[in-house]
Amino acid sequence: MKGQLGWSTSDPKSRCLQPFCYNFDMSTATHTTSLFSRNLRKEYPVAVRGEGCWIFDANGRGYLDASGQAAVVSIGHGVQEIGRAMAEQSSKIAFAHTTQFHSEAAEKLAARVLAIAPRNFRNGGRVYFTSGGSEATETAIKLARQYFLESKQPSRYRVLARRQSYHGSTLGAMSVSGNVARRAPYAPMIPEWGHVAPCFCYHCPFEKTFPECNLACADDLDAFLQANDASSVAAFVFEPVVGATLGAAPAVDGYTARIAEICRKHGILLIADEVMTGMGRTGKPFASEHWGLEPDIILTGKGIASGYAPLGAVLVAPRVVEAFEKGSAAFMHGFTYQAHPVATAAGNAVFDYLETLKLFQRVTRTGETLRKALAMVESHPHVGQVRGLGLLQGVEFVKDKATREPFPKEAGIAEKIRQAALEKNVLLYPGQGCIDGVRGDHVLLAPPFIIKAEECELIADAVQYALGKVISA
Ligand SMILES: Cc1ncc(COP(=O)(O)O)c(C=O)c1O
Repeated sequence: MKGQLGWSTSDPKSRCLQPFCYNFDMSTATHTTSLFSRNLRKEYPVAVRGEGCWIFDANGRGYLDASGQAAVVSIGHGVQEIGRAMAEQSSKIAFAHTTQFHSEAAEKLAARVLAIAPRNFRNGGRVYFTSGGSEATETAIKLARQYFLESKQPSRYRVLARRQSYHGSTLGAMSVSGNVARRAPYAPMIPEWGHVAPCFCYHCPFEKTFPECNLACADDLDAFLQANDASSVAAFVFEPVVGATLGAAPAVDGYTARIAEICRKHGILLIADEVMTGMGRTGKPFASEHWGLEPDIILTGKGIASGYAPLGAVLVAPRVVEAFEKGSAAFMHGFTYQAHPVATAAGNAVFDYLETLKLFQRVTRTGETLRKALAMVESHPHVGQVRGLGLLQGVEFVKDKATREPFPKEAGIAEKIRQAALEKNVLLYPGQGCIDGVRGDHVLLAPPFIIKAEECELIADAVQYALGKVISA
């Protein structure tokens, strides 16, 4: 008998139930996966093993993870110590609800994260652990709102952000995200609190040049606040280096100081979204430190557990903590799995590994090695720019190098480059829309911090091969 989906519901052989089987049922051409995949039309290999910068699928094929998946994997795949630490924690106590208990693992990790945070977090800062970046953004939005309730300024609730940004996929995080494509389907469901210009010199929204521009992009925040009821604004959130949306576009010197000054002037909190850039990815523990920035709240995720467990964190500066302490003391927010003992044990084991192998210190040097390997790519007539900081780098493809004109969206260049690089077994993270949310193609490179020089060469060779295959020079 055929079920609704086309496969026989009575004959178990018609569905492959082996753990790594991922085939089509040829008789019905119906997929046998039970997962609601990211794209139901796409076939996904099954990842079974990881080692260093490599992922191996069920057929034994190896892939060089040039993007650390999505800028997640910092210490590399398959580090046995991490699994052992997680097993040990879970054998002692796997879960205790945060309404009733703290755990040693979470306490220890919070103290360690604060110790490497910008100076203003060190004396009385606190950490709120989540299960990922989007939850960290949600938490920060609500924290900013409640901070102003505790501070007797109940009119403040809006969280401003920048166009061309990404802060997460939940509805609150989407409402601040300025990523046009990711927002579009949900537009009727999300509030528009206000978005200002990004800091993106290669495609400056004001068509100006740094430093003659005198940071017009930063002043856009001030102009927006003056024109749009600043007394209802609670916070401003931004990515110090814009990851997925702009392909590793760092702030220019002076930008973060200017926005910090504007936030102070208007009495609003400054939130640095370091979900992608935090925990060493750009060569400093937090990217804010490249410019000596001391935000009120820092969001982090991804590298904090290097993908070994779902973990994110909100670092809260003492002045915000104090407002709660003097006020209700109770944050009206929470997740069942926040500060999970096994996830934070993974975070501690990753931290140990980073420290033992001095991996933070390796990022700047290794980033330079990757950049050198990419020199040949940069000179390609259809590569507009290679940019980034440390091991968060982006390559933007252009139709015309002189005018920076992009390829048409329909050409799907970034995705085609990804596919072609895959022929060389190199995994890239493609993105489209870096100019205006629609046009502009780039790939993001964010390999594990342990990447070797020969692997950097393999990445550059694969991008060069893909350029040759996809774009005729
Ligand atoms: C800057 C930034 N913020 C927030 C998020 C959301 O994090 P997650 O996907 O872990 O929910 C991401 C994810 O890519 C990100 O890059």
